[in-house]
Amino acid sequence: MEKKNIDWSSLGFGYVKTDKRFVSNYKNGAWDAGCLTDDATITMSECACVLQYAQTCFEGMKAYTAEDGRIVCFRPDLNAARMAQSCARLKMPVYPEDKFVDAVVQTVRANAQWVPPFGSGATLYIRPFMFGYDSIIGVKPANEYQFRVFATPVGPYFKGGVKPLTVRISDLDRAAPRGTGHVKAGLNYAMSLYNIVDAHEKGYDENVYVDSATRTHIEETGGANIIFVKGNTLVTPKSDTILPSITRRSLVYVAKEYLGMEVEERPVALTELGDFTEAGLCGTAAVISPLGTIVDHGKEIHYAGMGPTIQKLYDTLTGIQMGRIEAPEGWIQVIE
Ligand code: PLP
Ligand code: COI
Repeated sequence: MEKKNIDWSSLGFGYVKTDKRFVSNYKNGAWDAGCLTDDATITMSECACVLQYAQTCFEGMKAYTAEDGRIVCFRPDLNAARMAQSCARLKMPVYPEDKFVDAVVQTVRANAQWVPPFGSGATLYIRPFMFGYDSIIGVKPANEYQFRVFATPVGPYFKGGVKPLTVRISDLDRAAPRGTGHVKAGLNYAMSLYNIVDAHEKGYDENVYVDSATRTHIEETGGANIIFVKGNTLVTPKSDTILPSITRRSLVYVAKEYLGMEVEERPVALTELGDFTEAGLCGTAAVISPLGTIVDHGKEIHYAGMGPTIQKLYDTLTGIQMGRIEAPEGWIQVIE
């Protein structure tokens, strides 16, 4: 199959309109069969619940061209399950998990020419999302919803590829106890926009959020979880108010089962930051982006960037995702 004529290696993390997207509508208490469409636009009421009260959630995952030429997708069943959690928290109807995976498969297959070639450094980013569609003016959930999946080829999330990042401890909070930090609600990202623009203006790549109840422990960044390395141990913050990253959960397994490391999933205090030698951000978009420096109000804590352990984790995870290393049962969804 011929790929699109794109300079894959120069892609950043941006939207490129691809050929097909999957759309399904929910009305009168039921989802329709859904179908692929060429139409990349959405027309809705000015009073749609998503526009007034931000009733929307989304997911993110990637498809890869493996070394043997197959197109594969990484753990879409976990994205389906997480979206079900997000929908429940936002009072939206769940899109059935098996149908979610099928919609992802259909979307990637229909855009196979847009899946970047093996070794190009780019991947196909898949964005399932759902929103309240009908007119709602009193504060309550919508009655009608749309579920959509589009795909776009992407390069690295952070400008400059894998250069070590400089991040700051944020003075603004991302999530409250018993709030929505653990689900992938659009509202979590809307309220981070002021802070990310401010961070970029001041020369930082991202904001590291701390727990808003005590402001003593590390949570995550605006778009990724955090991992730390200390000797042969992988340490990653445990909190009810961070997004349960599929990349982080996979790395915990990879560290234990493939690399023979110890793993600690536990609260990580700000006062411990100097104890770690390597650190990185992990997520679908971020993959593993190594940290060079965390700035905590003028105090700089330095890490090794792509140090030996982060490199091993990166190589093993991407090796599994791209079919170079045998994957645990059920991790790879073959598209074609
Ligand atoms: N944390 C936040 C706030 C995110 O937006 C993301 C991205 O999805 C992640 C963590 C990483 O999650 P995952 O590894 O499932 O992509
Ligand atoms: C992802 O990694 O899929 C995300 O949703 C993060 C977002 C900041 C692009």
